[in-house]
Amino acid sequence: MRKVGIIGVGEYLPERILNNADLEKLVDTSDEWITTRTGIKERHLVSKNEAASDLAIKAAKQALSSAKLKPQNLDLIVVATITPDMPFPSVACILQNVLSAKNAICFDISAACAGFVYAIVIAQQFIARGSCKNALIVGTEVLSSITDWEDRNTCVLFGDGAGAAVLSEVKTGGILSTYIGSDGAMADLLFMPGGGSRNPTTHKTIDNRLHYVKMRGNELFKLAVKSMTEAGHKALAKAGLSCKDVACFIPHQANIRILLAVAKRLGIDEKKIYINIAKYGNMSSASTATALCEAVKEGMIKKGDIVLLDAFGAGLVWGAVVIKW
Ligand code: UT7
Repeated sequence: MRKVGIIGVGEYLPERILNNADLEKLVDTSDEWITTRTGIKERHLVSKNEAASDLAIKAAKQALSSAKLKPQNLDLIVVATITPDMPFPSVACILQNVLSAKNAICFDISAACAGFVYAIVIAQQFIARGSCKNALIVGTEVLSSITDWEDRNTCVLFGDGAGAAVLSEVKTGGILSTYIGSDGAMADLLFMPGGGSRNPTTHKTIDNRLHYVKMRGNELFKLAVKSMTEAGHKALAKAGLSCKDVACFIPHQANIRILLAVAKRLGIDEKKIYINIAKYGNMSSASTATALCEAVKEGMIKKGDIVLLDAFGAGLVWGAVVIKW
C-alpha cells in the first residue's frame, strides 16, 4: 500500500457577510444568544448567481496551485456536498469541465458535515491501492439555499463556503489512520424532507416549507460530542498515538461548545484547536476543509506535526483522520 498525504489546500468564502445584528432583524434572536450558545458572530453567504460549483472551483484552483499540480494530472475528483448546483450532474463533473481535468473520474458524495473526512478516506483508498495518483477533494456548500430564514432554531447556524485539498503519494508521513462510522437510525434528527423522490417538489411541499433543513439541535448536540470523541480516540489508537501527540486539532465547526467539549474529553489543549466558527458558522462539509486550509496558511500546522481532523453530521455520520504533516 502506498503512503498518501495532503500536498495542497485551498478555500473560498463568498464575499457577502451576514452578522448577528442582521439576523436580529430577521428573527427573534440576539447577538448575545447566538454568541454564547454557538460561538458564531457572522457567516458568509453567496450572491444571487453563485452556486456550490462556483465556490468549489475557486477553492480547487487554490489547492492545485499550492500542490503545484496541473488539472490534467488529476485522476480523481470527489466533491462532498449536500447542496449541489442541481441533483445531477455531479458538482465533481461540473468542476472537471471548468478545470479541464480531462483525466479524472468524478463523483459527489453525501456525507453532510463529515463529507470532507469521508472524501479523504475515499481518495486515500484509491491512491493507496494504486488505482489513482492524484486526487482533488472538495467540501462545498451553499447552506443558505436550504436554510429557513424564518426559523431561529436553524437560520443563525449556517454559512456558505468551500475548502479543497489535493492528495497524492508521499514518501514520508501522510495519513496515518482513519476511522468513519454511520447510524441511519438517527436520520430524523437532521434532514431536508422536500425536493427528493419521497416528496418531489410541488406547490404543497413548498407551502409546507419542506425544502428547508429540519433539526433537533439539542439531541444532536449530545451525539455530536459522543461520536466525535469516540472517532478521535479510535483514529488515534489505530495510529498508535495518544492525544498528547496531537499538534493541531481540526474539529467540525458546528458549535463552539461542541468542539470545546470534544477537545476536553480527548484531553487536547484548547490552544491546539483550530477554530473559525465565529466568522463562518457551520458550513457542513466545507467547515473542516476551510479550517484545515487556514490552519496550514496561518502556520498552526508545520511539517512533521500530527493533525487530527474530526467531524460529525446528518445521517448520522462521523469520522476522524490522523495525518502526519
Ligand atoms: O453540523 C452537525 C450537526 N449539527 C449539530 O451538531 C448542532 C448541534 N446543536 C447545537 O449546536 C445546539 O443544540 C443549538 C445551537 C442548535 C441550540 O442550542 P441549545 O443550547 O441546545 O438550545 P435549545 O435548542 O435547547 O434551546 C434553548 C432555548 C429555547 O427556548 P425555551 O424553549 O427554553 O424557551 C429555544 O427556543 O433557546 C431558544 N432558541 C433561541 N433563542 C434565541 C433557539 N434558537 C434561538 C435563537 N435565538 N436563535
